[in-house]
Amino acid sequence: MLESQLPPENTSRLLEIGRSLTANLELEPLLHQITAAARELTGAKYAALGVLNSSRDSLERFVTIGIDEAQRSEIGVLPSGRGVLGVLIDDPRPLRLDSISRHPSAYGFPAHHPSMESFLGVPILVDGLAFGNLYLTDKSEGNFDDIDEASVVTLAAWAAIAINNARRIEQDRLRAAIEGAEQERRRWARELHDDTLQGLGALNVLLSSAVRRGDLESLRTAAAAGSEQLRVEISNLRSLIAELRPASLDELGLEAALEALFGRLTSTADFDVELSNELGNGDALPKELEITVYRVIQESINNVAKHASASHIQAQLRRNGSSIELSVHDDGRGFDPGAGTSGFGLVGMQERVALAGGTTTVTSSTTGGTTIQVKLPLPNGAASAATQG
Ligand SMILES: Nc1ncnc2c1ncn2[C@@H]1O[C@H](COP(=O)(O)OP(=O)(O)OP(=O)(O)O)[C@@H](O)[C@H]1O
Ligand SMILES: [Mg+2]
Repeated sequence: MLESQLPPENTSRLLEIGRSLTANLELEPLLHQITAAARELTGAKYAALGVLNSSRDSLERFVTIGIDEAQRSEIGVLPSGRGVLGVLIDDPRPLRLDSISRHPSAYGFPAHHPSMESFLGVPILVDGLAFGNLYLTDKSEGNFDDIDEASVVTLAAWAAIAINNARRIEQDRLRAAIEGAEQERRRWARELHDDTLQGLGALNVLLSSAVRRGDLESLRTAAAAGSEQLRVEISNLRSLIAELRPASLDELGLEAALEALFGRLTSTADFDVELSNELGNGDALPKELEITVYRVIQESINNVAKHASASHIQAQLRRNGSSIELSVHDDGRGFDPGAGTSGFGLVGMQERVALAGGTTTVTSSTTGGTTIQVKLPLPNGAASAATQG
């Protein structure tokens, strides 16, 4: 019998069921809903949905309705899909029987299993592949008929769409969780680079330049400064672990944190730094933006110290309309920004700025030195508040 030949009341009930199944996006409750619908449509005493394993040769799950928990635990092992149930696994087509026990594949029910007579089995194919089978037994009056079979076949088609949707949603959730974890790892890498590695690098510069000078006084001063720096690094690392945030920024605010950063650098380097900060302490800036500003300047000037052989750095921080603009210029040897590098600094900086919705421009030449320009959009609330800042 075709679906179109079903009595109108069955067709409209199936439509209702189909709508409600496809609105259910959680796989587990959906399987119960499908099983219950199959039982309701046919008037079966027992209904089950057997879900196939990944190799589609046996059942891995069995959702049942009609058998209560106590009966289930008495029966013990659930069917793995041998016997009559297995017929549908080997040959996924509807199967209707007046008596299960008379089928050649029947091998008898396990102990404590209620005896069952009439049977209707219908496969559920999802994306053309067998997902599982609906098993219905013991129709309350008479045997399963053409109408029952056509109804359950239609139900199985709705079920396939609903299962497909629910699975996609489940996969999307999983993908989002994996992406979230990946982003978190990237953030950790960036924080470790920007905080711990920068601090240790500065410590290395401090100690090795003292060793180069070689006199006792320089070594003594460097050891004292180095020890202090190490104490700061340990505390920074603690705060990184606790919060993944730069400690000095939290404690001191943007202006003082930047001054401390420049102070540390100029005490050991051979260049001078000129900072023009129109944002002051950046109180009106959202915390995340403040960190981005600090990190960009930190990486830029550390790069100058490490690579540029510059004598002068000019750093500017200001507000322009609804954005924050910052630039760091050095008069050093320059480099080719398009060339590949094993460093993480510039890439991490650009990634950080992009995450904040901003843009980074790197211009560099052997004669004109290097300029890093970054433009960061201010969120709406902060844009008006920063005007006073
Ligand atoms: N201001 C600069 N002057 C000259 N060269 C620079 C400057 N900034 C960056 N570079 C060059 O660009 C390369 C990449 O910089 P990047 O910050 O990405 O890596 P890094 O500083 O070498 O290592 P990391 O930042 O991971 O510790 C540097 O190795 C250096 O050759
Ligand atoms: Mg770097």
